[in-house]
Amino acid sequence: MPTRLVIEGGVPLRGAVAVSAAKNAALPALTAALLTVEPVALDNVPLLADVATIRSLLERLGARITDEPDGSTRVQVAVLGSPEAPYALVSTMRASVLVLGPLVARAGVARVALPGGCAIGVRPIDQHLKGLQKLGADITITNGYVEARASRLKGARITTDLVTVTGTENLMMAAALAEGTTVLENAAREPEVADLARLLVGMGARIEGAGTERIEIEGVSELGGTRHRVIPDRIEAGTLLAAGAITGGDVTVTGVRPRHLTATLAKLEECGASITVEGDHVRCQGPARPQPAHVITSPFPGFPTDMQAQIMALLGLADGLSTITETIFENRFMHVAELCRMGARIEADGSTAVVRGVPGYQGAQVMATDLRASASLVLAGLAARGTTEVARVYHLDRGYERLESKLQSLGALIRRVR
Ligand code: EPZ
Repeated sequence: MPTRLVIEGGVPLRGAVAVSAAKNAALPALTAALLTVEPVALDNVPLLADVATIRSLLERLGARITDEPDGSTRVQVAVLGSPEAPYALVSTMRASVLVLGPLVARAGVARVALPGGCAIGVRPIDQHLKGLQKLGADITITNGYVEARASRLKGARITTDLVTVTGTENLMMAAALAEGTTVLENAAREPEVADLARLLVGMGARIEGAGTERIEIEGVSELGGTRHRVIPDRIEAGTLLAAGAITGGDVTVTGVRPRHLTATLAKLEECGASITVEGDHVRCQGPARPQPAHVITSPFPGFPTDMQAQIMALLGLADGLSTITETIFENRFMHVAELCRMGARIEADGSTAVVRGVPGYQGAQVMATDLRASASLVLAGLAARGTTEVARVYHLDRGYERLESKLQSLGALIRRVR
């Protein structure tokens, strides 16, 4: 029997827990080390499956990665190996595409397997490739691989057709070593993009405007090493606060940046939770029963798509009818069927799900389909009457560091069974 999480529901969670560093900031921070021959030290890289995947990809590219006694992760790519990201790795994690920009900038060539679809959608990289072409790279696609070549990238004005987080990150890293100035319009404003820019500036890059929709990068001839602390994970924080809300408990998450959570906190309050922010502490006191709400996901600073499955679990117990519209991915309702098996009454129709709140969930055996869907099933299990078993926990381990022990520290009856 594969690993699963077994949850006895109905316990209001209480207490405080610290969030880990952000998966979606740590991944680009690790690939940024490809841009220099010097070592980059990252202070608080989270222990996640996706981090392990990107580490093995970087080592394959020639990186030496060591976990230092002071807790930092040291990455040095003194000599670049073959600049290829194989299908075996890219197919397990789309974020592997984050080596594309750095490799073209560092080596003038990159071969990266086209990411196949994944559970939440097709997720092409056409915007990454169009941007690299604008920077002067020749792009060819053969046998499912993208090959990008450029003797020296040249700065350009790039307006992406849509907001893409890793697309913005890839182009920002490539532009950092290009000749001349690059302007990215319609750039992603996610905090993880701004954190990557802060790291690149620490390495000697010249970047203005990261975190806004217009980023200006003045290319330099080489970048150096630096030390960098990765920002806290706003999605893990939102997930833990939602756990407090859905169990009618009283949970404080510490070590967060409240400014990264404004849309999530506003929505939790709309659902009836009372939210208190003090410095880097955010407290969520859950309602006896959630209030219905309408949710539309959008790029930062809007409501994050990575919190959509979690808020759906909460709204499934609301006293009334809610709607959730997913505007970022075309297939991110895989958790609906599993929540319905726990007694939820949700109908997904295209990009909108209609949620008719029920008084309670029943524990059941459920199956995770993707990272955030598995988080929503854990939340539902925490609130359900009886026992819930969540299978395929490897989805959860991709993006949450020791989630069950964090929840246990808040009083949850949850254990990992191999
Ligand atoms: C990042 O993915 C995050 N991953 C995702 O988090 C997050 O859901 C997503 O941004 C949106 O916020 C990392 O940062 C590693 P996009 P990314 O490019 O960059 C389409 C999680 O759970 N698109 O912003 O891959 C794409 O198909 C993960 O932690 C194109 O059409 O997402 C999607 O519909 C899941 N062409 C939309 O844009 C492109 O070239 C947004 O994608 C690029 C994207």
